[in-house]
Amino acid sequence: MQKIFRYPVPAHAHHNPLFSMGSLLMVLFVVQALTGSLMAFYYDPSPDGAYSSVDYMQFILPFGWLVRGVHHWAASAMVVIVVLHLLRTYLYGAYKKPRELTWLVGVVLLLITVSFGFTGYLLPWDQKGYWATQVGTEIAGSVPAIGSALRNLMRGGEDMGIATLTRFYSVHMLFLPGAFMVIVLGHLALMRRHGLAPALVRRGHGPEKTVPFYPTHLAIEAGIALVVIIGLVVAANLVPAPLDLRADPTDTTFVPRPDWYFLFYFQLLTYFPGGLEAIGTVAIPLFFFGSLVLLPFVDRRAERRPWRKPITSSAFVLYAVAVIVLTIRGSG
Ligand code: HEM
Repeated sequence: MQKIFRYPVPAHAHHNPLFSMGSLLMVLFVVQALTGSLMAFYYDPSPDGAYSSVDYMQFILPFGWLVRGVHHWAASAMVVIVVLHLLRTYLYGAYKKPRELTWLVGVVLLLITVSFGFTGYLLPWDQKGYWATQVGTEIAGSVPAIGSALRNLMRGGEDMGIATLTRFYSVHMLFLPGAFMVIVLGHLALMRRHGLAPALVRRGHGPEKTVPFYPTHLAIEAGIALVVIIGLVVAANLVPAPLDLRADPTDTTFVPRPDWYFLFYFQLLTYFPGGLEAIGTVAIPLFFFGSLVLLPFVDRRAERRPWRKPITSSAFVLYAVAVIVLTIRGSG
């Protein structure tokens, strides 16, 4: 036990809150598992019952609004924090040898995190969730050759209905959490094996000072987690989790809108109409995730300082600017 929890943490990581984002993600996952399990007591995963059960939790069940609100805000927080964690590991060159596999496992965790958002959005079976999922599954349908099989697999048939909701629910509350837990354990084992990336600029001579993870560094991580959890409760109080009108599959005038973190992608798709669709639905996402996967194998120099890596640093800035601009345009 001593060996597991009293391992040395480099002083630069102890003093930099960005190094606590990985642990914060795990805390947020636990928050999601707890609030999600509480909601599962009342949630009815059928097109007839889903909306009424969520409406009941939000407006009648004592503290239902709080549990649902924390789940809603923690989902957004996870997306923000996973991006911060990715940026930190990028900035410290933590994707380089010997941590290539830690980075790749991280890319899988990034996919799982956004999949939680995608599958959860449909569950209230309200207008916005229903129509955004129509578009999301249509996007899968536009993949050349395997598109319609993929779309039918997601929907459980040609159209959206009870099979879609059951599939999204079981993926959201069983498959993704199970995969997340197993894969995070692998991520942590790799992190322990290779240690954290060293400071970018070394001050002084000799080995860097360290602090024990337990209790010194853990105290900082627990403090950050506590502040974030209080923030989630305050957010749930100030801005309740949204619930649109009950889904109406006959209402073809509804303009589909995803959650904020998919807005950039919906906006991107508007630039590739008709025959160009596959560029937005397949080529650009493949290029984006492909570049994340290939990064450790393309940028192989030992240099880790971002200001000495103009090509990868400019690519990161370009991605960030593109996502921000598209999100702003998509929300207008
Ligand atoms: C939601 C999912 C994730 C969880 C729970 C998680 C958890 C962690 C934890 C606890 C650490 C050690 C402490 C720290 O650096 O914060 C870590 C390190 C690391 N993570 Fe993640 N992570 C996740 C996603 C990602 C993503 C998306 C990437 C990148 C694509 C990534 C890449 C890395 C790398 C390369 C390290 C080693 C850092 C170093 O040596 O300095 N992780 N992760």
